[in-house]
Amino acid sequence: MLDILNLDSLEERARALLDPMLFDYIDGGAADEWTLAENRAAWTRLQLLPRMLRGVADRSLGTTVLGTPVSFPVLVPPMAFHGLCHLDAEAATARAAAAEETIFVASTVSNCSLEAIAEASTTGARWFQLYVYKDRAITQDLVQRAAAAGYSALCLTVDTPYGGHRERDARNSLRMPAHLALGNFPPSHTDQHHHGTGHGSALGQYIAAQWDPGLTWQDVDWLRSIAPMPVVIKGVLAPDDAALCVEHGAAAVIVSNHGGRQLDSVPAPITMLEAVCEAVDGRAEVLLDGGVRRGTDVLKALALGARAVLVGRPLLWGLTLDGEQGVRAVLQHVRGELDLAMALAGCASVADVPRELVLR
Ligand code: GLV
Repeated sequence: MLDILNLDSLEERARALLDPMLFDYIDGGAADEWTLAENRAAWTRLQLLPRMLRGVADRSLGTTVLGTPVSFPVLVPPMAFHGLCHLDAEAATARAAAAEETIFVASTVSNCSLEAIAEASTTGARWFQLYVYKDRAITQDLVQRAAAAGYSALCLTVDTPYGGHRERDARNSLRMPAHLALGNFPPSHTDQHHHGTGHGSALGQYIAAQWDPGLTWQDVDWLRSIAPMPVVIKGVLAPDDAALCVEHGAAAVIVSNHGGRQLDSVPAPITMLEAVCEAVDGRAEVLLDGGVRRGTDVLKALALGARAVLVGRPLLWGLTLDGEQGVRAVLQHVRGELDLAMALAGCASVADVPRELVLR
């Protein structure tokens, strides 16, 4: 089993194994990477005020997200191209999520097809993350395939009308390695990632060519009309947008800035969480991602109103270092940190983490 002291320590270990171009793609953010750093820094500005003598010998970390039981409130977020990290790609990550009893969110731009991911993790709960293609026939086909393959929610990412200005990828002229394919699409899509055009990020070029920057709230209504499963909206920061998500029928909202990879200078999701929860007012579940590295981060998010959080890059470091077992080790480590943090803070159950735990 991968030996983990803390999640941060995995980054340098993974870097040693990865092609620098691929490490940069996973590790990097947009522009000056201010938001990337802020996603981490924002947690450190929140202090916990623990309570004592509350009888924490028996703790319960299990909860539900959109009615699906999870063993602890940490999900696997949609991330592109797990094949960059390990040959087993998303099949390994999805199996790990299933074994640790949490939800796996499969990215539109996975290396394994969504059907292959479903086959690899038949017992696991899965959502499908959707990017809306300009060609609505492609979009519709993805939604139907996801429904047929048993994905229980559609997670619409709304923060990516274009790829962010990712300078590392531009400098490296990011290309997908020749042995990998875009699992959900015909070879012409994979070709765009292998070859690109001239200098710059092939992914950035692909996004500009394929994804629809004209999306509006009406498209959310359209998506709901064609999707037989609940729609989760990922990538809002403004409380007013969260309220609009609810008005347009979203079952859950994920407060996210795409891991600091889209618009630089935006606040960390944890900075916006409480105001978003107020705007949503219990009408949808609120989740969050962005810089979660500690059990105490998870606890802070729960106290401020999140139903669950999503941990991103550390899972890819775990995948790089030890495949499926590495991803399991990362999830187990976060669970262990959360469990201890709850005990030390006087919380026996994730259902009972009071707002007062985070100092105002
Ligand atoms: C893809 O969604 C990325 O953030 O690279």
